[in-house]
Amino acid sequence: MSKVAIIGAGAMGSGIGQVAAMAGHEVLLYDTFPDAHIRARDGILKSLNKFAEKGKITDQQAKAIFGKIYLVEDLNSIAGSDIVIEAIIEDQEAKEKIFASIEPLVNEQAIIASNTSSLSITGLAKALKHPERFIGIHFFNPPVMMRLVEVIPALQTSKSITAKVMDEIKAWGKTPVRALDTPGFIVNRIARPFYGEALRIAEEQLASPAEIDAAMKSYGGFRMGPFQLMDFIGNDINEAVTRSVWTAMHYDSRYRPSQLQINLVRAGWYGRKSGKGYYDYSDSTDHVDPVLTDEHKKLFDRILVMLINEAADALHFGIASKEDIELAMTRGVNYPKGLLQWADEIGVEHCVEQLDALHHLYREERYRCSALLRRMAAHHETFF
Ligand SMILES: NC(=O)c1ccc[n+]([C@@H]2O[C@H](COP(=O)([O-])OP(=O)(O)OC[C@H]3O[C@@H](n4cnc5c(N)ncnc54)[C@H](O)[C@@H]3O)[C@@H](O)[C@H]2O)c1
Repeated sequence: MSKVAIIGAGAMGSGIGQVAAMAGHEVLLYDTFPDAHIRARDGILKSLNKFAEKGKITDQQAKAIFGKIYLVEDLNSIAGSDIVIEAIIEDQEAKEKIFASIEPLVNEQAIIASNTSSLSITGLAKALKHPERFIGIHFFNPPVMMRLVEVIPALQTSKSITAKVMDEIKAWGKTPVRALDTPGFIVNRIARPFYGEALRIAEEQLASPAEIDAAMKSYGGFRMGPFQLMDFIGNDINEAVTRSVWTAMHYDSRYRPSQLQINLVRAGWYGRKSGKGYYDYSDSTDHVDPVLTDEHKKLFDRILVMLINEAADALHFGIASKEDIELAMTRGVNYPKGLLQWADEIGVEHCVEQLDALHHLYREERYRCSALLRRMAAHHETFF
């Protein structure tokens, strides 16, 4: 079994460490902050106990898994590791600094990876002496529960390293999908309209957040509506991801942050964690489900077609394969159906018509139809 080192024992690092230990690996979990060690230990123990309570593992297995995780304060302890996954703060300089310290400690065959959500893997790889063994391994939060892992080779990454990492992630019980090194990778890019178009509709006063949430759940079968999900993720986090993709996409209006959300963040209305977001969580009175009309169905169609457009464009630009795009959205954010399959079901021609109607109404670049959808519609093609 290979020796795994995780750098940064925060929410992601401790979860990734637990996943690796549950797959049988010895894990060195390094963090510079003693408080992080305490939080990581408590978090992992609590999670393993939950697995044991649910009967998914025995008490003995929980103990054995915990025994495989070593919390270390000295970076030299990771010497000889076969795979190193960095999950420290999202800061390019801090990450480059840590890679420079890690590289001399491991052999040239060792894989060095980053769990970054928003930095370029190719840009990070440049900081390494051997960039061909560097790769992005993007877990979702919480790593122990979320099955999807995006594997992002840098321009410099060798093919054999990518193949090795895909196999390794499978062996860890996860579903790896391969993504091109582009802003937001697969999930954080394709999911943008779920939030952005819902916010735009609310800003236009076409429906309230509660109505839009109800429409997405009832017409689309989404487990949570966009506003419920933003409140759950945290509006500060969601806005930061949107801003980062928007900036990295050269301020493409399709990803523009919403003034409505910016104001919520300014007010400190982050959502569940602050007690108030789009909804008030201190209010215990039962919420009455809004009555939905044909107008709400049209708003659901509008958000769905914007999501399909984004998925089609991701395919058009080779961000991932058809199959991986579908896996990413169903397993990474639990969409009820793959977006490309959804396009086939409602008809590619119909998607193009809807997007063109939005573009005609608003005359905004935001509503431009993907060239792939338009070409497919002209040839009466389907995705599957
Ligand atoms: N939170 C998420 O939803 C999520 C999802 C996917 C990826 N990510 C990415 O994972 C990484 C970590 O995110 P997180 O949410 O776990 O953050 P976090 O703040 O919970 O944890 C970061 C940890 O890194 C430690 N740290 C900071 N600088 C360090 C250094 N120089 N050396 C060693 N340890 C150091 C901190 O003490 C802290 O424990 C980021 O790159 C983030 O973009 C986060």
